Amino acid sequence: MVKVGIIGTGMLGNAVGIHLLDSGFELTAYNRTKNKTAELAKKGASVVDFPKDVASSSDIVFTVVKNADAVKDVSFGNNGIVKGKHDGLVVADMSTINPVESKIIAKKFSEHGITMLDTPVMGGPNVAIDGKLVMMASGDKVTFDKHSKVFETVANQIFFLGENGTAHSVKLAMNIQIALLALAISEGITLARGANIDPEVFLKILNSTYFKTGMSENKAYKMIKGSFEPTFTLSNLKKDLDTINETAKAFGINLPITTSANEIYQKAVDNGLGDLDYTGILDYIKKLSKQK
Ligand SMILES: NC(=O)c1ccc[n+]([C@@H]2O[C@H](COP(=O)([O-])OP(=O)(O)OC[C@H]3O[C@@H](n4cnc5c(N)ncnc54)[C@H](OP(=O)(O)O)[C@@H]3O)[C@@H](O)[C@H]2O)c1
Repeated sequence: MVKVGIIGTGMLGNAVGIHLLDSGFELTAYNRTKNKTAELAKKGASVVDFPKDVASSSDIVFTVVKNADAVKDVSFGNNGIVKGKHDGLVVADMSTINPVESKIIAKKFSEHGITMLDTPVMGGPNVAIDGKLVMMASGDKVTFDKHSKVFETVANQIFFLGENGTAHSVKLAMNIQIALLALAISEGITLARGANIDPEVFLKILNSTYFKTGMSENKAYKMIKGSFEPTFTLSNLKKDLDTINETAKAFGINLPITTSANEIYQKAVDNGLGDLDYTGILDYIKKLSKQK
């Protein structure tokens, strides 16, 4: 069985790692803040001190870190992945990053003789734990197929999209849906409350229509209870909105609603809501309307 590595054991990386271990893979893990590897260590992962040690012990390394700068740090920084390179090493980047940056990173890896694939995902730790992520993939197809068993363990739906960068563009298009849906549901709940209508009634009706979504059928019920335990933080979604806007600029396109949404999420972060789940945007919308 191929040896797998994970660099970045935050909410998503930790869950992916647990599922790989549960599926019988040998796993080496690194996280900048070491105590976040404790659960994986307990389940049998080898925890190492540097990204280069993950690289030297693994055939394929997932990077699951915050943003493109973090990917560059763990890849090319002191003690980064390239320092642990060996023949056949593959890096699969699961972080949500700018496709333009991703192409540059893939090129830099190739100069070191390392193949980098883009493997961003939809779905959070709650589905990653059961290998039920939806993966968008791009890069060298032969390398991707060689490691299909690993990818099929991590995700139950995989869409291979083409050359490096492509998967990240589609992932960003997905995150526009997340950001705007959370806002639409928040404003619907707030309007219902303003009319003294139980928001559960609003959700029941919404979920009887064509306009229902996974979010309205699941997380929305937590939202109306004021439960915002994070599976994907509001500040990370705000980070993705920044990335979407930078990418739109690079592509010469205009995304007016995403631009406005970015300003709203920024204000929510400024109001101290960044560590909540992204659905905590409801709290900010509530505050604007002075609702309790
Ligand atoms: N959670 C989700 O539902 C979800 C779904 C799809 C995609 N994603 C994407 O997956 C990535 C990880 O998300 P997450 O939810 O796991 O976030 P998270 O819990 O906030 O974890 C972020 C991870 O990035 C690491 N990191 C940040 N800056 C770093 C740097 N300069 N050098 C090394 N490591 C650094 C953190 O290390 P420390 O612990 O030391 O801070 C941590 O391991 C993000 O790009 C996110 O957008 C998340």
